[in-house]
Amino acid sequence: MIAPRSSKLFVFLLLFFFSVTLAFGYSEGSGGYEEEEEGRYGGGGEEQVFLLPKSRQVMRSEAGEFRVVSGFNVGKKRSGIDSQPPMHIGFINMEPKSLFVPQYLDSSLIIFVRRGKAKIGWIYKDGLVEKNLKIGDVYRIPAGSTFYIVNTGEGQILQMICSIDTSESLGTGAFQSFFIGGGLSPMSILAGFDERTLTTAFNVSSSQLESIFTRQQEGPFVFVNGTHDSSKWASFMQLKHQERPYDIAEHDEVDKTDEQDSWTWRKLMNFVVGEKAPKRSVKSTDAYNLYDRKPDFVNKYGSSLALTDKDYAPLAHSDIGVYHVNLTAGAMMAPHVNPRATEYGVVLMGSGSVQVVYPNGTSAMNTVVNEGDVFWVPRYFPFSQIASRHGPFEFFGFTTSAGNNHPQFLIGASSILRTMNGPELATAFGVSQDRFTKLINAQNESAILPSAPAAPPRQGRRHKHEQEQEQEHEQEHEHHKQTDPEGELIELW
Ligand SMILES: *[C@@H]1O[C@H](CO)[C@@H](O)[C@H](O)[C@H]1NC(C)=O
Ligand SMILES: *[C@@H]1O[C@H](CO)[C@@H](O)[C@H](O)[C@H]1NC(C)=O
Ligand SMILES: *[C@@H]1O[C@H](CO)[C@@H](O)[C@H](O)[C@H]1NC(C)=O
Ligand SMILES: *[C@@H]1O[C@H](CO)[C@@H](O)[C@H](O)[C@H]1NC(C)=O
Ligand SMILES: *[C@@H]1O[C@H](CO)[C@@H](O)[C@H](O)[C@H]1NC(C)=O
Repeated sequence: MIAPRSSKLFVFLLLFFFSVTLAFGYSEGSGGYEEEEEGRYGGGGEEQVFLLPKSRQVMRSEAGEFRVVSGFNVGKKRSGIDSQPPMHIGFINMEPKSLFVPQYLDSSLIIFVRRGKAKIGWIYKDGLVEKNLKIGDVYRIPAGSTFYIVNTGEGQILQMICSIDTSESLGTGAFQSFFIGGGLSPMSILAGFDERTLTTAFNVSSSQLESIFTRQQEGPFVFVNGTHDSSKWASFMQLKHQERPYDIAEHDEVDKTDEQDSWTWRKLMNFVVGEKAPKRSVKSTDAYNLYDRKPDFVNKYGSSLALTDKDYAPLAHSDIGVYHVNLTAGAMMAPHVNPRATEYGVVLMGSGSVQVVYPNGTSAMNTVVNEGDVFWVPRYFPFSQIASRHGPFEFFGFTTSAGNNHPQFLIGASSILRTMNGPELATAFGVSQDRFTKLINAQNESAILPSAPAAPPRQGRRHKHEQEQEQEHEQEHEHHKQTDPEGELIELW
């Protein structure tokens, strides 16, 4: 096993130097560009302009963490791309029986539950809304709304991925949390008022006050099992109002237990919201489950769906859409363009490559992404995602437009090349219409395309180059795959 691998490595190294030299050359005979000079990208290989950096931790305590992949114009400096107001992607992980303490943010969140179960409570129109969420649910929490999250999954980690829409943000860092509940850590925003103000406002003594504001020191994520009160967890599991008919909730008893418990998070929240404990439930929209929904598009090679504000109205407020794509091994999302939105993608499962092209027709990025990686593609930029040959490639993400974004496919049966086929287009490519028609009709599938069949070694340099590049990437990411004679992934005209 070892010997073949190391000789393979040697070949890869050789190929690597070749591919740098030949980078981005077009093959002869296709009317394309001539070979470009080397070193356009500093000779250092691919630039990963549209791959967002690894996530960094913005909050952490024993019971959980919040990591953020910053979408702040990563590519701007180097490529002159002015992206839309940035969106960050957040990863929230919570231990069993934990609580993400009440707070509000200067950014709206659209939460996607990846694993586990959650209860989310938030203030909506002066009432408390609580929702139980399960895997696949999409749910929006508006900027400025106080919310908390409880991991309600029995013995399960709760993992959520969210978009952090910063269009309303203060512009300080990724986002700003304002903790309502807290003590020494996190620090409650209430603690910023002077003692007299607080004692007066709460109508309590300073010692009572102090007993509240110095207790919490576990950080933003706290365990709920730590209390002596065994019924406490049960109360955390319950929904206080939601999912009950409006009028029944009017005089409910669940609230009473809260009233007895003299200093609850909710009381603190009510203080900030300036309301008595809400006795009524408020109508708000349900969560929307991505996985229950039939895909918009499905064929043998994969499926895709897009969630718009027509499916889930709260998306309109943030003007953010959610999509999900599942490709089978080797399948490809045909090169396409988002005419109206910038797209952020998070790899949920498997690996694949993402290719993004600059307006001037040069490769902006061609890189392998693995589970947890986040990539983005600016509006108008052509791109394509290709599953590795090892297994399915599942990703989901957010687009900066809540309406239907109508991606335009460049290649495939439903492509604009097909739609627009005619002498004009053929002329633009400088070939006869016959030849052109033949070329664009060769692909019978649309949108999600099968992997390339084993190709005879007739290709020009470009194909060879791609093959090398793919292998090189695979090598880089330590996918020790079998020798792959075809290797050809994408055939541009
Ligand atoms: C194409 O555009 C990119 C980004 O604007 C730039 O970095 C690159 O040098 C351009 N290449 C050519 C050949 O114009
Ligand atoms: C403050 O609390 C006292 C009893 O502790 C009560 O008599 C008084 O009415 C309260 N004041 C306000 C404004 O609620
Ligand atoms: C609460 O549960 C977590 C994980 O289940 C555990 O690590 C922690 O020690 C528990 N705390 C207490 C006080 O039981
Ligand atoms: C994605 O497709 C694979 C098979 O190709 C399947 O096993 C998996 O369940 C799918 N995932 C979703 C979320 O549909
Ligand atoms: C694709 O189209 C060609 C020509 O129309 C046809 O001969 C071929 O059978 C089709 N293949 C598939 C898989 O549909």
